[in-house]
Amino acid sequence: MLGIILYSKTGETRKIAKRLQEKLSCPLHEIIPESYDPKILKPVLIEAPEIGAFDTVVLASPVHGFQMAKVMQAYIEQTDFTGKTVDLFVTHYFPFTWLGGSQTLKQMKRFVEHKGGSVRHQTSINWSSKKREPSVLAMLALYP
Ligand SMILES: Cc1cc2nc3c(=O)[nH]c(=O)nc-3n(C[C@H](O)[C@H](O)[C@H](O)COP(=O)(O)O)c2cc1C
Repeated sequence: MLGIILYSKTGETRKIAKRLQEKLSCPLHEIIPESYDPKILKPVLIEAPEIGAFDTVVLASPVHGFQMAKVMQAYIEQTDFTGKTVDLFVTHYFPFTWLGGSQTLKQMKRFVEHKGGSVRHQTSINWSSKKREPSVLAMLALYP
């Protein structure tokens, strides 16, 4: 079974994750931090969803300062992904993928692999660009 685990501060990542959930009718869980202040380097998580029931996990995060949000980093660090297939998508604002998206995906892949997961799909969605909708549709098309 596939499950979506997302973190969203201002709602963009959540909106896109919900579209995937609607398409697949799959579980979707949100990581909830004690504080949404992105300056907190070691966030405390109030809700850190269990992934035991899933063989495939879609992890969705905003880009914060050319990296995954610290909340997503804290979640990955405290989760065992051994044996899981993991798909990644990030949302970001700056107009070029190299201004955050691709670097963040590389970073997330490294963290997930360190925790035993196997990364499959990776998508960067720039919501300020005209390519936003095509990149969302391309991501949705990865899940027939
Ligand atoms: C603290 C902070 C840092 C950000 N850093 C970047 C960045 O480095 N590159 C980028 O393209 N967008 C950056 N953004 C914009 C967010 O990545 C973008 O708005 C994202 O889609 C928000 O997702 P959310 O609504 O799910 O929280 C930043 C936003 C915040 C609040």
